[in-house]
Amino acid sequence: MENTSNKKVMNVLNGETYKVPPIWLMRQAGRYLPEYKETRKRAGNFLNLCYTPELATEVTLQPIKRFGFDASILFSDILVIPDALGRSVRFVEGEGPRLDPIEAHEIVDLVDRFKSSEEALEFLSPVFDAVTNIRSKLPNETTFLGFCGAPWTVATYIIAGRGTPDQAPSRLFAYKHRHEFSKLLDLLADVSGDYLIKQLRSGADAVQIFDSWSGVLGNSDFDDWCIKPVKRIVDRVRAEIPDAKIIGFPKGSGFNYLDYRSKTGVDCVSLDWSVPHNIAKQMQNKGAIQGNLDPMRLRAGGDALNAGIDDILNNLGHGPLIFNLGHGITPEVPISHVEQMLKRIRG
Ligand code: CP3
Repeated sequence: MENTSNKKVMNVLNGETYKVPPIWLMRQAGRYLPEYKETRKRAGNFLNLCYTPELATEVTLQPIKRFGFDASILFSDILVIPDALGRSVRFVEGEGPRLDPIEAHEIVDLVDRFKSSEEALEFLSPVFDAVTNIRSKLPNETTFLGFCGAPWTVATYIIAGRGTPDQAPSRLFAYKHRHEFSKLLDLLADVSGDYLIKQLRSGADAVQIFDSWSGVLGNSDFDDWCIKPVKRIVDRVRAEIPDAKIIGFPKGSGFNYLDYRSKTGVDCVSLDWSVPHNIAKQMQNKGAIQGNLDPMRLRAGGDALNAGIDDILNNLGHGPLIFNLGHGITPEVPISHVEQMLKRIRG
């Protein structure tokens, strides 16, 4: 395939294979970076960092300046969508996000109030300002990714009011209040679709949809709550921007990974570290994949890190690959390990 752009990540999304794959890391702007911690302190609270374009720009660019990754991801959070829908998100230091749990009868009003995405997108206007600002400051060859959470994953926080280990509250809610739950996911899909469209129009080159909790659903529930809402987002984005490039990350979804691309319409599937490379290879025959180093190998460093990298390059380096972790980088990762990883891959 021909080189269509000087952006390696975009070319891989178009099916190109590189000898040295492009690389970026999920959560690459974060607490493992001293410069992030410094800006984070200045911002006061986490959402203030997300909603102040100058600060969001600053932290988005930090990992690019330090490591020269091939892609930059907008600094924000998947929970800005519930925040924009009036679910008042708070980040409690050391505990993670907190929301007021929603009850089934509240969903009808929520859907009615936000039928049009306009008000929610207006609330998120600082994010679009950040996107435009970031694109203008990034090197031309760096792909700039926008993102949103998938409706199921975002809904788990709206329902439970916090992260839970197996999302039992949301699974239960979906069985007890199927109609309302389905309406909530449709709403999230529509607002998220419009949110991605606006990110792409503001300067993002491509977008990623994070379904971090898709692994707790099986059988028809996976189709109903993961596939359908993500396809709804993809269709909505492509109706406005037909050539929009979209990465899907259905973390932990096991066998459901296999036909995720064909069922949702995403261009590239991001794989967690549990996906066997023979399965990943099979998926690579149909298009680009992203992943899938265990973040704990990066934390461990040394031989464990080198072996994990070599394994991915040997098995998956001969097809369209965006090198990444199988989930986000953790705060304890030493900077020297990220440098070791880049040296191993780029030489
Ligand atoms: O990848 C990036 O660098 C972009 C920024 C980004 C953040 N969150 C910044 C963040 C992205 C893409 C996310 C996505 C996100 N947020 C997901 C999906 C991906 C995943 O990791 O599964 C989820 C489930 C969330 C919700 C969320 N945000 C949780 C559960 C937490 C607390 C967990 C923790 O590590 O403390 C956050 C907070 C958050 N989002 C931080 C960062 C850098 C840490 C908060 C801080 O700096 O105080």
